[in-house]
Order: sequence, then structure tokens, then C-alpha cells
Amino acid sequence: MTGSYPNTRLRRTRAHGWSRALHRENIVTPADLIWPLFVTAGEGVEEPIATLPGVSRWSVDGIAKRAKEAVALGIPVVALFPNTPHDLRSDDGAEAHNPDNLMCRAIKAIKDAVGNDLGVLTDVALDPYTSHGQDGLVDDTGYVVNDETVAVLVDQAVNQANAGADIIAPSDMMDGRIKAIRMALEMNGHPNVQIMSYAAKYASAFYGPFRDAVGSGGLLKGDKKAYQMDPANADEAMREVALDIAEGADSVMVKPGLAYLDIIYRVRQRFDVPVFAYQVSGEYAMIEAAQAAGIGDRDALLMEKLIAFKRAGCSGVLTYHAPHAARLLAG
Ligand code: PBG
Repeated sequence: MTGSYPNTRLRRTRAHGWSRALHRENIVTPADLIWPLFVTAGEGVEEPIATLPGVSRWSVDGIAKRAKEAVALGIPVVALFPNTPHDLRSDDGAEAHNPDNLMCRAIKAIKDAVGNDLGVLTDVALDPYTSHGQDGLVDDTGYVVNDETVAVLVDQAVNQANAGADIIAPSDMMDGRIKAIRMALEMNGHPNVQIMSYAAKYASAFYGPFRDAVGSGGLLKGDKKAYQMDPANADEAMREVALDIAEGADSVMVKPGLAYLDIIYRVRQRFDVPVFAYQVSGEYAMIEAAQAAGIGDRDALLMEKLIAFKRAGCSGVLTYHAPHAARLLAG
């Protein structure tokens, strides 16, 4: 009889709130959240981003204030992305290794404001610095060249670590960059700087608002399909993750998030490595658009998506909704 109706009624444990709480298998807390922030030039500047309603670029002083806000909300990490002034962008993205660039100034301002109460994750890729909007160096045919790009990414990563970055997050999808960056961090006195690799990053249509936010969208000709992954592929993601772990990644990321829950789940089943999801700009914008159009409730949609990431096996989620979610969780 056991296991069949009416001995077993799965609705029994769902009947009351206390019981649902008792039987809940997964939980989201502010400690699961990573808050991406966009840095812009100037002082006292806030620039709302039209395609990311509710998200702004902040000048370095504003970034320091957001860092204090993150600490107060219990968010453990912020992720930084610069909107490099257009006159500082170039074919080779040299501004990426300027020790006084926006990114480095923002890292230092955060560390001055909150010290080690907050982790700072920095993006390694050239797209916010190049005049062509690609993540690496391009040859005459427009192809993003791998090994030459890796050499530049290594300089970029060491530059960020020297400024005080805690987690280096390469989002460029070049082959071999995790190993090269790990070796450079070790050799330059940064043994405890982590690497969170964007291991399975797909060539996605969900990145549009982000490219507006870092000012690369209008510059980009063509696409990123010769380095970012084909959305049709899943086995290949396992190879990407295996390589990045072998090369020294401390944690891996799957990006975008919601459309790739199967990848998150498979990575978690197969590898004993912390996995993070990036709920990307297009995913954020879709929730905001649903709210604005009266199609759904922002808060409910958001919390349902966040718990889905946890259920799939994520250690945490990068989301532009991080401060809002943390406030909701605090009641
Ligand atoms: C590029 C980068 C992208 C994102 C993070 N790093 C966009 C791209 O690959 O073109 C997307 C994040 C988002 O959409 O929120 N290095």
C-alpha cells in the first residue's frame, strides 16, 4: 500500500505555509547574489540605461556607494563592467591594461569604501575597450585571433588584480586563457585571486541591452559566433568546463541563465565545481517588460527564476536584480 493513493497524498505536505516551509528543498539568500555594475567616466554621474530599465551606469564615486549598499544588503560580490569613453577605444583595446582605467579606479574606490567586506569580480575581455566591439584582437579578415588575444587578456587580468580585484572573470571564450591567466596571477604575487571562468558562454541574442550599457553595441559589426558557443550544443559545454577546471578555474559560469538550465544541471552532475549562472541583460529586460506590460508580477517572476537556478545546482547567480531581490528576501 505504501507509496500509493490514499496512503500517499503529496498534497498533504502542501496544505499549509508552515509545512511548505518545512519541506522546501532549495532556498535563495542574498549571499547567492552577484550584482553587476556599470562604470562610467566623470564625477557624480548617473546615466540610466534605456534598454535596462532601473539600471544605471555610475561614475566611480557612485560605484563606491553601490558597494556600501551591497554590503548592507548582504550581497557578497559585485561584478564590474566599464563604459570606456569612446576616444579611449582602439583596435587593440590598449586601455584595458592602463592601470588608471575606469575599471581599476572603480576597484580601488570599492576597496577604499568597504575593504574586504565585499568581493570584487572583474570582467576580462576586450569588448568595452575596442573600437570594433569584439572581445579580442581582429585580423584583416575580421577574425578574432586566439593566441595574440590571450596574451593581451593576461595583461588585462594582472592589471585588475594589481588594482585589487578578488575574482577574475574571463568572458572572452578564447582557448587556453584560463591557464595563461592563472600562471600570470601566480607569477605576479596574486595566488589568492580567484578565477571564475565564463566556461560555457553562448552566442546569444539575450546580450543586447548589455552592449548598450558598455557602449559596444553600436560598434560591433557581425557577431561573436566564431568564439562564443552555438546554442545548439551541450556536450561541447562539458568539454569547455572540463578544460577550464583543468586549467585552474576556481568556479565556472554558464551564460545566459534561464535558457541554459540543462547545461547548469549537467555541469553540476558531472563536475564537483561551483557553478554560477549569469541572468543576462535580456533576461532582466524581459522581466521588466512583463511587469510594465501587465503580463506578470516582477517580484514573483524574479524569485521563481532565482530558485530555478538554485534548484538546477547553482552556487549563485549574477543578476541586475540583485539589490531588489536582496530587499525582497529581507522582507
Ligand atoms: C562581453 C560580455 C557580454 C556580457 C558580459 N560580458 C556580452 C557579449 O558577449 O557580447 C553580457 C552580459 C549581459 O548581457 O548581461 N565580454
